[in-house]
Amino acid sequence: MPETAIQAKGLTKKYGDMFAIRDIDLELNQGDLFGFIGPNGAGKTTTMRIIATLLNPTWGEAYVCGNSIYTSPKEIRRLVGYMPDFFGVYDDMKVIEYLEFFAAAYRIRGPERRKRCDEMLDIVDLDFKRDAYANTLSRGQTQRLGLARTLLHDPQVLLLDEPLSGLDPRARIEMRNLLRRLGQMGKTIIVSSHILPELADICNKIGIIDRGVMSVNAEVAEVMKQVRQRTVLIIKVQGDQEAASKLLGQHDAVESIELKKEQLFVTLHQGVDDYSEIPSLLIGAGHRLMLFREEEVNLESAFMTLTKGTGAKI
Ligand SMILES: Nc1ncnc2c1ncn2[C@@H]1O[C@H](COP(=O)(O)OP(=O)(O)OP(=O)(O)O)[C@@H](O)[C@H]1O
Ligand SMILES: [Mg+2]
Repeated sequence: MPETAIQAKGLTKKYGDMFAIRDIDLELNQGDLFGFIGPNGAGKTTTMRIIATLLNPTWGEAYVCGNSIYTSPKEIRRLVGYMPDFFGVYDDMKVIEYLEFFAAAYRIRGPERRKRCDEMLDIVDLDFKRDAYANTLSRGQTQRLGLARTLLHDPQVLLLDEPLSGLDPRARIEMRNLLRRLGQMGKTIIVSSHILPELADICNKIGIIDRGVMSVNAEVAEVMKQVRQRTVLIIKVQGDQEAASKLLGQHDAVESIELKKEQLFVTLHQGVDDYSEIPSLLIGAGHRLMLFREEEVNLESAFMTLTKGTGAKI
């Protein structure tokens, strides 16, 4: 059994009569990469700040590696790396000095301090800016410096508030790869974003929150299964598609076939996901396969279907 890294039960924060978050339940194991998706004002930052022990909930429970936010905030701060959505850098500090300043605050001492800072610069691919002034970095580089700072004390759990926002497409890809790598290192990560597709393929779990309420909270694979009622295969054989279509139409697994642009779109019956007999059937009848693949589900439209009515802009 993997250890539960983050657990929240009925987490609620009210400002006056307004619920910033309402009854949030969450359970993440070590190594989980959780995409926390929601529009402006949904409650993402509030939830993450509560788990980081920077904000008290009105009621509800939260634990990080078994430590309660109420009774063990110190232990939690040691375990958690929190990257806020916006952070300032000091004008007169070089990149390496900035990191060393925070390393000192984490009580990383002696030669270990410099070594650790250099390692972090390497991880976020910022060694080439080691001696540049921190306030001269571009937005993407500043985000990476923020992540390096968050990683300094080797936290088990990362709470990253919109680390991809404001990055150009290339920097996004690099940051996503970095998140994936951190996940593979066994860290538990919550990463927030407004945009679902940019997280869906790196995360294993997804939560969608709107107006304080988490309407979807599941494994990405599970959500995909819900969305994908039927498997569709795209097949093309050499020559005429008609004969292949006729042959496939007789197979038990096949519900319907459509011919579009010289390709057969073969929809299987609901619940059928083993289609291993299909290629052998075609080849056995003398067809030469040019193309055989499963149609990909369009993530954006899939999640729109799931969150219909919640008003979540994804
Ligand atoms: N200190 C505060 N006082 C009053 N209301 C607050 C306070 N902090 C947050 N809120 C409200 O709580 C709700 C949730 O805010 P939160 O910052 O968690 O949203 P978010 O999902 O992080 O949004 P964004 O995508 O814009 O960062 C919002 O309606 C916000 O106005
Ligand atoms: Mg926020």
